[in-house]
Formats: sequence, structure tokens, C-alpha cells
Amino acid sequence: METPGEKTPQWWQNGIIYQVYPRSFKDGNGDGIGDLNGITEKLDYFSETLGVTAIWLSPFYRSPMADFGYDVADYTDVDPMFGNLADFDRLVEETHKRGLKIIVDWVPNHTSNQHPWFLESKSSKDNPKRDWYVWKDPKPDGSPPNNWVSGFGGSAWEFDPATGQYYEHTFLKEQPDLNWRNPAVVEAMFGTVEFWLKRGVDGFRIDVAQSILKDAEFRDNPLRTDNAVAGHKPMGDYDTQVHLYDGPQEETHGIYRQLRQLIDRYSAEQPRMMVGEIHIFDVVKWAQFYGENLDELHMPFNFGLLKAKWEAQAIRETVDNLEENIPEGAWPNYVLGNHDEPRIASRIGPGMARLAMLLLLTLRGTPTMYYGDELGMQDVKIPADKVQDPWERLTPGMGLGRDPERTPMQWDASPNAGFTGPEVTPWLPVSDIYEQENVAAELAEPGSMLNFTRRLIELRQNSPALLSGSYRAVNGVPVGCFVFLRESSNERFLILLNFSDETATIQLPDLGEGLVVLSTEEEGLAEKVIALDEVRLGPAGGLLVKLAY
Ligand code: NOJ
Ligand code: CA
Repeated sequence: METPGEKTPQWWQNGIIYQVYPRSFKDGNGDGIGDLNGITEKLDYFSETLGVTAIWLSPFYRSPMADFGYDVADYTDVDPMFGNLADFDRLVEETHKRGLKIIVDWVPNHTSNQHPWFLESKSSKDNPKRDWYVWKDPKPDGSPPNNWVSGFGGSAWEFDPATGQYYEHTFLKEQPDLNWRNPAVVEAMFGTVEFWLKRGVDGFRIDVAQSILKDAEFRDNPLRTDNAVAGHKPMGDYDTQVHLYDGPQEETHGIYRQLRQLIDRYSAEQPRMMVGEIHIFDVVKWAQFYGENLDELHMPFNFGLLKAKWEAQAIRETVDNLEENIPEGAWPNYVLGNHDEPRIASRIGPGMARLAMLLLLTLRGTPTMYYGDELGMQDVKIPADKVQDPWERLTPGMGLGRDPERTPMQWDASPNAGFTGPEVTPWLPVSDIYEQENVAAELAEPGSMLNFTRRLIELRQNSPALLSGSYRAVNGVPVGCFVFLRESSNERFLILLNFSDETATIQLPDLGEGLVVLSTEEEGLAEKVIALDEVRLGPAGGLLVKLAY
């Protein structure tokens, strides 16, 4: 049973990606904000402690930080808050020395309103860069050109009194959208990709990848009539429309085909990749971003597990649906958390965190882990006077703010969890359970979530079946359970997951017996042989079982 991945596995297929949110990972210079030198200091954590394959860094570019770096004022420099280019070069060198890969964020949809391009564009209607952004005349009554809304609430158009036109912004008004229909923008932005390719990065995570291009005629979006949530979570104003004209446009694919050619030109000696932020839940439409001939993104991020209810049936359907509809040769991937989502341990409850990790790291496809999830880190409640996220500020109390999942990494039990100096005030509060929940404490406790995750990573990274074997769901199991097989030509694993809060009994007499190599139950770290005709799984219990071949 050979999958395409088995034939030519690339590092981004045969590997685990770990997302670092630079502001929150490790403060190297004691100003309360994480930085590049902090990450360099912790590289052994990825390579030795965890054993992941690649790190993805959220933006560290020059930025006024209106959206914490997703508002870029210079795509080819490091913000002084995070360090400088020499620090970055050292980080790349040290990363590669350890056999790790490094993925950087690329933010093509919009720049900062402080980017020199925008300052020029805004300066007059006949500035040569005017058309680098999306400018439109007001309607005759002075109102915005159409009904598009910003992802962070309110109109997507901001009026500029000096030139009498509106500019478009899918997110904050401090994040004007670039005009990707202008070839000069394509050229300049591709130049920024080359800049980082030449500095040795192994890949790019593409922000808002699906909608960098908007409708050429700027038509109004149809209104929704069903009151339903449009994506995977409620988004206020944004949910009132069908995003037909400000969402994915056919022409976007041409841009990614070109970009892929650029990346491929740099891949002969060092295989590089792109993974795009694609919030599309129809697998067929989502998969279009791989490209008809697999010539666009190496992977669109798959957020299906974020949308699915945390129930065995729904999770299985999400996985089966992907497996059935993903084009041949396209490599799957799964995400359970990132800097925009409530932490998984908070969303489903801390008692389910191990089950979630077991699922993520045994499915067929590249897993992306979010920093701290390996510790079971939970959302931190942020007092009103400590709120940082502009989304929370614009929509207070709606639960849309993302600060709770962006709090400092918990390294040890010292003040500020070892994230920054003891006397320093970190940019966001440290979790108040950090004294128990931190890297040092969990490393010392054999049955900890961290040691569970480390063992799981080790098992995955050394198993052909888990890395690139086939996937097959097993029928005839209790409703609250999801059981599947991962098989390669010389190895078979059975994964048993109980999503319910009751004990379940799974009967699979045809499978004989198997060796439990990992269990979510603390004492289960030791290996033992079990008969599969009757397996009891406690609430939120999960097992990874190696079957005889
Ligand atoms: C998606 C990013 O993940 C998010 O953090 C950001 O606010 C928006 N894009 C806008 O750049
Ligand atoms: Ca710092």
C-alpha cells in the first residue's frame, strides 16, 4: 500500500511543523517581548527536547505592530524589537546546524499603512504607486464603494479626505490591501520572497493566501440569510455576508503558479515549500490551492479540525472527507491551533489535550503544532486593561480577541516562567498555573503531557506507517470512539480514540493482539501487549497500538 508520500517524501511531508509566535517564545534581551535571539537560545528545545522537523515563525519584520507584525512596513528587514538581519542569519545558520528547517511568514494581502509604498500611494492620485493599493471613488452619496466588511468588523473601506477616495482594507485600516492586479506589485512582492530565499529560509507560510485578489468589478457581496457562522468560528460583521467578491477569485491561482515557479527555481539544492492560510471548508474548493497540476501551494493549511465539533463522528467525517476528496499526489496536513484560535486545551478541556495531540500526530498528513500545546497550555484570561489584540479592542467582549492564546511560553517555575527577566513585565500576562505547567517541571515528571508528546513525536518520526502510510477508518466501534489504521508496506498501527466522557469498550477481534506503544493514561507510557477483542478506554482515553505484520 504505497501513497505518493512514500515514494518521494519531502521534509515538509515527512515532518512536523512547530509554530513559534516570536513575541511570546523567549525574550533574549529583557524588554518583556520575545525576539529572534530568544528563539536561537532555545533551538535545542525543538531539535533535542521535542524532535520536530521545522519551525514556522510568525512575522518579525519592521512593523508599527498595529496587528502585531501582520502589518509590515518593510518586508526585507527585522523589526528592532525582534533583533536585526544578522540575528536572523545566525538563527538560520543555527537552525540548519541542528538539521531543522525554518519557515517564515509572508504577508502579501496587505502592508502597514506606514509602508513607504502606501505613504507614496496615498500622497496623491497621480503618484506612480497610487495603483499599488486598492483605491476607489465614493458612491455619489459619499459612502464607501461597496458593502465589503473588514475581518475585524466595520467597513473594509477607509476614506482619505486628502485625495477624496477610499482605500480597501480586509483587516485593520492600518493594513491597506495591495493591488495584486498590478504587475508592479507582483514583481515587488516576489522580490521580497527572493530576499528570504537567498537568506536561506526553507519555506513560507502565506497569510490570507486565499483572498489576495478581489473582484475586478467590486460588486457588493450578497447578504447571508441563514444567520449561520460563515467559517469555523463566529466573526461578527463578517458573518453577515457571502464572501463571493472579496473572497477567493479564480485569478489568484495564476499568481500562485508563478510563485511556485520562483520557489522551484530555488529548490534544486535546498527543497523549499509554501503553506497557505486557506479558510475554505469545502475540500474540493480548498484543494484547488494545490493547483490543478499540483503546481501552486505545496499545501493549503487544513483547518477542518478547528471547525469540526469535538465528537468522534464529526472528527472522523472531517478526516474521511479529506481522504476521499484530496487530489491524487496532494499531501494532506492538519492544524489544531495557532495564534488566531483559542488553545485546544481550553476549547475541548484540558482532560482532552492528550487525545487531541494523539490525533494530530497520528493522522496521515503533516501536523502543525502550536507553541505550548505540548505542555497543555491553556488560554489565559486577559484583564481589560491588559488587552493588546486590536480585534478585541474593536469588538470588546465578543470573545474574538486572540491575546489568551498568545501568552508567554512557560519554560520553568521562576518568575515570569523563565520567559523574560524576573523584574520585567511581559507584554502579555503569564498564565497563573505556570509553576506547575512548564517545560522544566514537565520534563521531570515521566507522565507529563510534555513527555507524552515527546514520545509521540519520536514514534511518529521513526515510523514509516505513521509518516506516510495509508489511512483507513475502522467501522463497528462505539459512537463516541474514532479508530483508524495507518499502514505501510512493513508496519501497521491502530489508533483508538475515545472522545466521550464515559468509558468505552471497543471490540476488534479480527485484529488479534497488539503492542500498546503509547497511552494517554499516565501509567501507560510503558509498552504492553493487549488483546483487541475487548479494549477498554477511559473517558478521553487514547491508545497507539502497533499491530503484528
Ligand atoms: C491572518 C493572521 O493569522 C492573523 O493573525 C492576522 O491578524 C490576519 N491574517 C491579518 O493579517
Ligand atoms: Ca526582547
